[in-house]
Amino acid sequence: MTTHAAADTLFDQLISKIRQRRASVGIIGLGYVGLPLALLYSEQRFPVTGFDIDTRKVETLNRSGSYIYRIAAEEIRAARAQGFSATSDYSLLSKMDAIIICVPTPLDEHHEPDLSFITNTAHSIAPHVRAGQLVVLESTTYPGTTEEIMVPILEKENKTGLLAARGDQSKETEFFVAFSPEREDPGNTTVARRDIPKVIGGLNSKASELACTLYGSIFNRTVPVSSPAAAEMTKLLENIYRCVNIALVNELKLLCLRMNLDIWEIIDAASTKPFGFHPFYPGPGLGGHCIPVDPFYLSWKAKEWDFRTRFIELAGEINTHMPYHVLAAVVGALNRHKKPINGARILILGVAYKKDIDDLRESPALTIIELLQKEGAAVSYHDPYFPFIGKGRKYDLQMKCTDLKDLGQYDCIVIVTDHSDYDYRRIVEEGQLVVDTRNATRGMQNSKIVRC
Ligand SMILES: NC(=O)c1ccc[n+]([C@@H]2O[C@H](COP(=O)([O-])OP(=O)(O)OC[C@H]3O[C@@H](n4cnc5c(N)ncnc54)[C@H](O)[C@@H]3O)[C@@H](O)[C@H]2O)c1
Repeated sequence: MTTHAAADTLFDQLISKIRQRRASVGIIGLGYVGLPLALLYSEQRFPVTGFDIDTRKVETLNRSGSYIYRIAAEEIRAARAQGFSATSDYSLLSKMDAIIICVPTPLDEHHEPDLSFITNTAHSIAPHVRAGQLVVLESTTYPGTTEEIMVPILEKENKTGLLAARGDQSKETEFFVAFSPEREDPGNTTVARRDIPKVIGGLNSKASELACTLYGSIFNRTVPVSSPAAAEMTKLLENIYRCVNIALVNELKLLCLRMNLDIWEIIDAASTKPFGFHPFYPGPGLGGHCIPVDPFYLSWKAKEWDFRTRFIELAGEINTHMPYHVLAAVVGALNRHKKPINGARILILGVAYKKDIDDLRESPALTIIELLQKEGAAVSYHDPYFPFIGKGRKYDLQMKCTDLKDLGQYDCIVIVTDHSDYDYRRIVEEGQLVVDTRNATRGMQNSKIVRC
């Protein structure tokens, strides 16, 4: 057999294994993205192994438990029955036909991309990569990461001198590489996960075809693009679009407040236009692992090209100002009740970064709590998803969730996250003063409500 023929055999073998649901899938990083993905492949009867450096997560999963609120233990049990298991042992990667990487991509303390999770993962995978394997990166990152950062580590540090497949000529000493961004919208129950089209950029056409076939087994539509960098940029465009539009409505909200106009009413009215308008909503500031973080991956990379991404910077400035606007609204509202912020008893309702989810990352509630505490307020919080707020990367609050009894004891209640569980009528009736950052009290007329 010629070298090309042997290589084509590796490709054909993997395609056919994927089609027959026999390809073993290894998912690295079993967080909000990786765990649901592992469950999707398991549901489709693929043999799935999850890899994570967090041994508590590994143990929990192997006990059929869950650590993500919206994933019931029942789903883990079903996957375990289907053969799913979790491990921290990277040597098992050599048994995988496809490896999908879903590790975090945060910003560092200088607000610059922290790619250490991706590079650490690449260093750990490299010794176990074998010919014919497919490696896909899903973590959101700047264009060029897959090809310029991940692939060189995999090529340099694998034991047998394998190279990533490029161009049309196949060799039997190659593995396949692609980038495919995650598009999950936590808490969104209107679009089924498998109905979200999956964008895929392979390093060569064979890698694209393999990745499209693999993802095509669990998603209804795959969207191949010309390169990993094009797929990386697609994800950033989507998130920058949200970030900039949210900043726009946040700024217009500030103007509307001065003009005594209701921005929510205006957005609702504008949304009736059947074309050319997509609604975005103002709030207390951006949260989550994506929108406040990802745009800065691109502005950082742009500097390499002597380019300033001014929209991103302006949007960042407006959005990061929003918690300060909430602070000013609380101070002003208390002042109208002839009360100082210093010593005021304040209840924060909802700390998750958006409604009905158990994710605290980059939540504006954390900044608002800190700002209020700095002014001397006695702050309590309630959130059905968080019995305790301990230490995170940027905060150390050590607060326990309070109950919702005796709401009249608080000088001010601040609605930061509009969870569906709350009875907003009761909150307004029983509270002395309610600052609403989410329009959760829409339709209610009461002088206690301050919309901000
Ligand atoms: N959460 C979302 O809704 C969402 C949506 C779209 C894209 N993304 C992107 O997906 C990526 C993952 O995000 P997430 O929300 O799942 O993060 P997460 O923090 O919930 O999970 C990441 C997991 O990776 C594990 N991990 C870290 N380093 C590892 C290593 N070297 N080896 C094995 N495991 C390791 C962590 O222990 C953790 O369990 C990020 O790039 C994020 O920007 C997230």
